[in-house]
Amino acid sequence: MKDLTPSRNMLDPIEIASRDEISALQYHRMRRSLNHAYENSPFYRKRFDDHGVHPSDLKTLADLSKFPFTYKQDLRDSYPFGMFAVPQDQLVRIHGSSGTTGKPTVVGYTKGDIDVWADVVARSIRASGGRPGDICHVAYGYGLFTGGLGAHYGAERLGCTVVPISGGMTERQVTLMQDFKPGIIMVTPSYMLSILDEFHRQGIDPRESSLKVGIFGAEPWTNQMRQEIEQAFDMHAVDIYGLSEIMGPGVANECVETKDGLHVWEDHFYPEIIDPNTGEVLPDGEMGELVFTTLTKEGLPMVRYRTRDLTRLLPGTARSMRRIEKITGRSDDMIILRGVNVFPTQIEEQILKCAGLAPHFQIELIRKDRMDAMVVHVECKEDHASADARTASSRELAHHIKSVVGVSTKIEVHDPNQIARSEGKAKRVVDNRPK
Ligand code: DLL
Repeated sequence: MKDLTPSRNMLDPIEIASRDEISALQYHRMRRSLNHAYENSPFYRKRFDDHGVHPSDLKTLADLSKFPFTYKQDLRDSYPFGMFAVPQDQLVRIHGSSGTTGKPTVVGYTKGDIDVWADVVARSIRASGGRPGDICHVAYGYGLFTGGLGAHYGAERLGCTVVPISGGMTERQVTLMQDFKPGIIMVTPSYMLSILDEFHRQGIDPRESSLKVGIFGAEPWTNQMRQEIEQAFDMHAVDIYGLSEIMGPGVANECVETKDGLHVWEDHFYPEIIDPNTGEVLPDGEMGELVFTTLTKEGLPMVRYRTRDLTRLLPGTARSMRRIEKITGRSDDMIILRGVNVFPTQIEEQILKCAGLAPHFQIELIRKDRMDAMVVHVECKEDHASADARTASSRELAHHIKSVVGVSTKIEVHDPNQIARSEGKAKRVVDNRPK
């Protein structure tokens, strides 16, 4: 794989500024942003008043902990436009997340917001190893989901040639990749695996493809999956994080030279880690729920938004801005099985250790004899499809899960191509327990 480290003169000065400079900028922007929320969003004025705080109470960055949290439910309750801090005619774009239940959550962007978003995504692509002039294949979905258009504007801002293919029609994705020869692909890691299958189906060696880097996010994925994809395509695999409530993709991104967690673009998004039960702010290094306050958003400023994503804050390395560790999962995705907490990423890690198994899987929750139980559905590799090989793989996986994760599971090893493929975010857990 090529060394894609950007030279220092390519970076925005703030990416390598001192911590003091970053904090000073954050404080200045946070004050302005809290004032904007209080003055222009009736929702925040009421929330702050009810909580007995005023933007002028922010004397240091740490004073942010005096301010109330914002929850996804607040967006639902104010559906569609109730939380915006600018008149609707100032918004140039709406996005939304479909959500699994009920109404979508709607977010809106001013022209200035779109501009900042393009900047942070451009910065993310550069950190991943992308350069002006690269062809960038965007296979995140276009539409209300922020992935496609967010990646698109950022790639254009960096000066890439964008191929806005969106998700789906996998056969055509591979054909166009063979013809256009993109250096960059932006896609969910689970859909990248479907694309990998399609390379094999067409008899094309993925290691011969033009790709030099994949920028993967929108769902949790593991370092083991990184290795799997990097080896399969002979390219770098880098993690991009974001959420629509805060902006979309490009809130944090890994640097290709270190791949040691995602640098939060702290000049625009202020991170905190809290204890999800008590709401108390935890020191850097401790595991908890990630909370964001936007520092420059105009249309929909967010104060202490509870992401439900679990991670820890770490000091900067390749850049001065702090990192978040690769996200283990969302508290919503956590399975509690006979008292043990299990995340789908932990199962992914164990599957990738088994040479006879393909990286496609789904977890089914069932109830047996009044006890919750977990079935892991996974596929064998073509060359490990005999009955003996399957039994061995199944035993091996059950053993890894029991010894590392700590739960007993039933493993079902299916034929190749039997597990539903993702074209966007993979659905890892199916709950078939009686309600
Ligand atoms: O998924 C934005 C995005 C698009 C990020 C493309 C990266 C690439 P939402 O649909 O609002 O927005 O979902 C946000 O997805 O709270 C996390 O739970 C999860 N997520 C996003 N990126 C990552 C990642 C987009 N790199 C929710 N690792 C977030 C783990 C991620 N989880």
